[in-house]
Amino acid sequence: MIPRTIERDGQAIVFIDQTLLPERLEVVACTDVERLAIAIRRLEVRGAPALGIAGAYGVALAAITSTETEYGPFVAEVAKAAASLRATRPTAVNLGWGIDRTMAALQATGTVHEAVEAAVREADTIAREDEGVCRALGKNGADLIPDGARILTHCNAGALACSTWGTALGVVRSTVESGKKISVTACETRPLLQGARLTAFELHEDRIPVRVITDSTAAFLMQRGEIDCVVVGADRITTDAVFNKIGTYMHAVCARHHGIPFYVAAPASTFDTGRRAKDVTIEERNGDEIATFNGRQTVPAGVPCTNFAFDRTPLDLVSAIVTERGVLRPPYDRMPDTGNI
Ligand code: MRU
Repeated sequence: MIPRTIERDGQAIVFIDQTLLPERLEVVACTDVERLAIAIRRLEVRGAPALGIAGAYGVALAAITSTETEYGPFVAEVAKAAASLRATRPTAVNLGWGIDRTMAALQATGTVHEAVEAAVREADTIAREDEGVCRALGKNGADLIPDGARILTHCNAGALACSTWGTALGVVRSTVESGKKISVTACETRPLLQGARLTAFELHEDRIPVRVITDSTAAFLMQRGEIDCVVVGADRITTDAVFNKIGTYMHAVCARHHGIPFYVAAPASTFDTGRRAKDVTIEERNGDEIATFNGRQTVPAGVPCTNFAFDRTPLDLVSAIVTERGVLRPPYDRMPDTGNI
């Protein structure tokens, strides 16, 4: 069985190093905030809800390890660490959400001792809540999935992207739990292969039927009538778009063309109702992630590569958004307001 993706063990934050999967399942015990920031940047910990938990634990770690004894300078030091954590990845709003929630708990105290305890307590709460949220969301989504459905998903919005269970794959797991027979087609998700490495790994571990395709095979399978619905996760949902792994938009366009429902599964913490799509920063990663494959140079040296990590899908291509609070339908005028900034 796969351990929880990220959790606290005493003074350490313990997480699965997802860069090593599927060859090796190794956990890292992290005791300082700088190491955690590196883990987030390297995608050792990744996926929006897991980033929310990582952000929360990052604040708790900064509080635990601070040597400041005076309250004011202590809060300032932790706030500085929080700002550097927030800057690690700009697109998933959950990262800032977890940081802000934990900072608010820490700042609602009067002494360093109280502040450390409050930060650790709040981060633990965020980590613990995640499973209940994913399971509720999964159940709501399972009602949308017919028996026998062949589901296409992109990237990894599973247990590995949360503490456990998952969002898009939470819908898959809850559908299986309800007794329906389904299968999953996982797009490999170039360039870092979260679909091939992670989605296939965790579904295979759970004995849920899964096959992997190249990203560019998705449209052809839809044309052949081999896909009944698309279910993906989200990194941020504004009032006009869903942000998710690069390639998601292309699946939404193809699904619409073929009359296939396109579902997004995400917790309330992924909503960012104060912002429009044009105001969101899309992470652009190093072109080397595209220019090499399996340690081999696949693009001629000196040729630039453009490596957007996410894209945005306009809401009019989304058939429904599944949350732990219920299923939202177009025109999406009643989104949860989580006060994300
Ligand atoms: O770059 P990643 O691996 O962090 O991207 C993750 C995704 O795009 C997921 O689909 C998204 O975070 C939803 S996770 C439940």
